[in-house]
Amino acid sequence: SFEVVCNLSGLTLTVPEDRSVLDILNEAGIEVPCSCQQGICGTCETRVVSGEVDHRDSILSSVERAANETMMTCVSRAKAGSRLILDI
Ligand code: FES
Repeated sequence: SFEVVCNLSGLTLTVPEDRSVLDILNEAGIEVPCSCQQGICGTCETRVVSGEVDHRDSILSSVERAANETMMTCVSRAKAGSRLILDI
């Protein structure tokens, strides 16, 4: 599991291995719009403040991945040992 800190709402959430960041955010009452849930539509894109993202979507280019400024919360996760801070 890993932690996600939601900067604007002030919540820190734990994302278990078998759940998506998107699910955990929505469950906590932080509404992130979503559609495909497969990393292909871009609807759930969320701004990243810090933390290393393990990008698992099919949308971002390698340059965008390296910039680490945004993530698709339906499929992407934190890299091992990292905590994500999101602008949400
Ligand atoms: Fe489509 Fe996340 S819901 S990319």
